[in-house]
Amino acid sequence: MQPISRRKALLLGGLGTAATVAGGAGVLWTLGNSRPATVSGVELATPPEAGSAGGQLQVRLEAAPGQIPLAGRQAAALAYNGSIPGPTLRLRAGDVLRIKLVNNLAAPTNLHVHGLHVTPEGNGDNVLITVEPGATFDYEYRLPEDHPPGVYWYHPHHHGMVADQIFAGLFGAIIVEDPEPIGASIERVLVISDTSLDGLGNIAGATDMDRMMGREGQLILVNGQSGPQFTARPGERERWRIVNTCVSCYLRLRLDGQQLQLLGMDSGRFQTPEDIEELLLMPGNRADLLVTTTAGDSVLRALYQDRGSMPGMMGAGSGARNPAGQPDGAALAALRVAGEPVAPLPAVPASQGLGDLRSSAVAARRQIVLAAGMGGGMGMGGAGIMRFTINGREFNSARTDITATAGDIEEWTLTNTSPMDHPFHLHVWPMQVIEQDGAAVDAVRWQDVVNIPANGRVKVRVHFRDFRGRSVFHCHILDHEDLGMMGVIDVQ
Ligand code: C2O
Ligand code: CU
Ligand code: CU
Repeated sequence: MQPISRRKALLLGGLGTAATVAGGAGVLWTLGNSRPATVSGVELATPPEAGSAGGQLQVRLEAAPGQIPLAGRQAAALAYNGSIPGPTLRLRAGDVLRIKLVNNLAAPTNLHVHGLHVTPEGNGDNVLITVEPGATFDYEYRLPEDHPPGVYWYHPHHHGMVADQIFAGLFGAIIVEDPEPIGASIERVLVISDTSLDGLGNIAGATDMDRMMGREGQLILVNGQSGPQFTARPGERERWRIVNTCVSCYLRLRLDGQQLQLLGMDSGRFQTPEDIEELLLMPGNRADLLVTTTAGDSVLRALYQDRGSMPGMMGAGSGARNPAGQPDGAALAALRVAGEPVAPLPAVPASQGLGDLRSSAVAARRQIVLAAGMGGGMGMGGAGIMRFTINGREFNSARTDITATAGDIEEWTLTNTSPMDHPFHLHVWPMQVIEQDGAAVDAVRWQDVVNIPANGRVKVRVHFRDFRGRSVFHCHILDHEDLGMMGVIDVQ
């Protein structure tokens, strides 16, 4: 048998496949009676960081193509400031963030600060502007004094190119620090992305079928690395800031053998941390996680999550978590816990969270229907591209789909008439999930990306506080967004 090269192993999504030990640095850890997991043996890297001081952070983000270190090799990718992920931006409530975006790409782009509660107008979080190749744009984001702490991220949002640009490497994390620090022995930023590289190290393109299904990469990376590893001592409480920047992958994460407590998702902090065994992150979601360590070896895995399919499509099996190929999912990173135990940290203080709109008066109720259907001119068995619509329409930046009144609380019923899931995202204002397929949600759950299951229905409430202006809502399977599954909201 011919030895599989490291490149080939990576192309095959070789993590988690016993036969593809990657080069000399390969490590094979056998976990209980489950299949062995291969990790690359590289130390987990931390993305570069820039933090605010005196209430301000000024950064220059240059989006450019280059030969970028990615998955253990040099890849012809796109990056902010030459690194994938781009720099992590650390902020506090009340800060002003100024970003000079320099577009050295061959295509138009722009910037979105996903989840931040800031104005969508002017040079704020305005995704309706275009920054042409060679041009620069000065963004300014003013975080309110009561901005929720948590994990956020930034990425391009130029309609029609979002999936391509993120898949090629344009994304980075944003952290809004807690007003009162939460005790942790270490904080790790884990930016999870997916991509595919061809034999020459170029980012693979997407077919029409990939776009309709939502492309999934052959590689799932943590901080741009394939299967990094890191170590801890028993009894430590680590804080993990996890971002799912994948274009379409739903990440069902497990870290068996370790104790997980979820502080919150997106900007929605729970009152008290929730013990969990599994964590489902839709594309765009973030998790603020505490990991209390127990001696042993653990692998962070992304299990296969069925997100449906359109008739005639082959399902979401093209990516690294092909259920047939990898029943245990993909191994993303490995944690070795060994050595002298450390003393436990005090319990986490209760958090205020974002409040609860379940018994609030609702000013307006809306029906929002997510659909996927045959496009014009596509005959039976034809190879045309499907239409992805919200309330029957494809995105048009000149049209306003929803007009809301500043200060109001609205209730939206999100209905998915298609046989595949759509993760619904609203900019600027977080959504409280109050009902799932007819059953009331009996906890306070705030997210800015909410899964609307295939043929399912979810009710959310939104409080249009603080800001006015035009912004967008869309499916965060970014291929669907690029195909038109997006609408404009104007809050006045
Ligand atoms: Cu993460 Cu409109 O996007
Ligand atoms: Cu967003
Ligand atoms: Cu979708």
